[in-house]
Amino acid sequence: MCLLSVNVDHVATLREARGVSYPDPVRAAVLAELGGAHGITVHLRGDQRHIKIRDVRLLNEVIQTRLTLEMEPTEEMAAFAAGIRPYMVTLVPERPGEVSTEGGLDLVSHGANLSLAISALRDSDILLCGFVDPNVDQIQAAAQLGLDAVELCTTRYTESGDRDSRKEEIETLKGASRLASRRELLVHAGHGINYENINPIAAIPEISELSIGHSIVGRAVLVGMERAVHEMRELMWKARAEIGSDNRLL
Ligand code: PXP
Repeated sequence: MCLLSVNVDHVATLREARGVSYPDPVRAAVLAELGGAHGITVHLRGDQRHIKIRDVRLLNEVIQTRLTLEMEPTEEMAAFAAGIRPYMVTLVPERPGEVSTEGGLDLVSHGANLSLAISALRDSDILLCGFVDPNVDQIQAAAQLGLDAVELCTTRYTESGDRDSRKEEIETLKGASRLASRRELLVHAGHGINYENINPIAAIPEISELSIGHSIVGRAVLVGMERAVHEMRELMWKARAEIGSDNRLL
């Protein structure tokens, strides 16, 4: 079974382009749920350039599914998350000025901040996930750090230009998914997934959740959020059906 968590950051990006109160990511999240989203994801950046603390608080109260909070592993963010208690926290790297998250968090040569953030969150019952590049060392480190899940960064696949490199990146993601699953980590994936490139990723049996934002919000502008989410779910369902996966719960 593969779940879809819809990232509504870019609804807030549109709001902040004018510094007004609309469109509201909270309303968008409710519509995404009506379209069949299994969860909602937001990235609270240190500079709150799109999602604000107010959004996270409201989403946590309003949505009926699961809230995933993406954040940099700092003590300050960890304290905020421990107070809010979302369903899951995904630890991501943050570089000031980046357009979007540029790659996985380095769990191998991590600093003291990561350990502090993990121990601050460990005492709450929040699921802890690390956004990592799909390689052996990062997955082993995630298991050693006691994380519950990894979200494999799919950027190298989604940005690869030709057929051969796309195939190679999918093989890398498959290997990383198998290893993470053997290490008893939940396997999630995301970044850059869209309606055209989703099939081979959604067909990796170990992946239990996809986190998708930009393409769904972009399509929602044209066809509405409910339909945009529904169409993505259909593609996920089809990919799983092709590999004979059990889709009854979807
Ligand atoms: N996963 C992580 C860790 C991210 O930072 C993002 C972007 O906010 C996504 C998934 C979603 O990526 P996209 O917006 O390209 O679907």
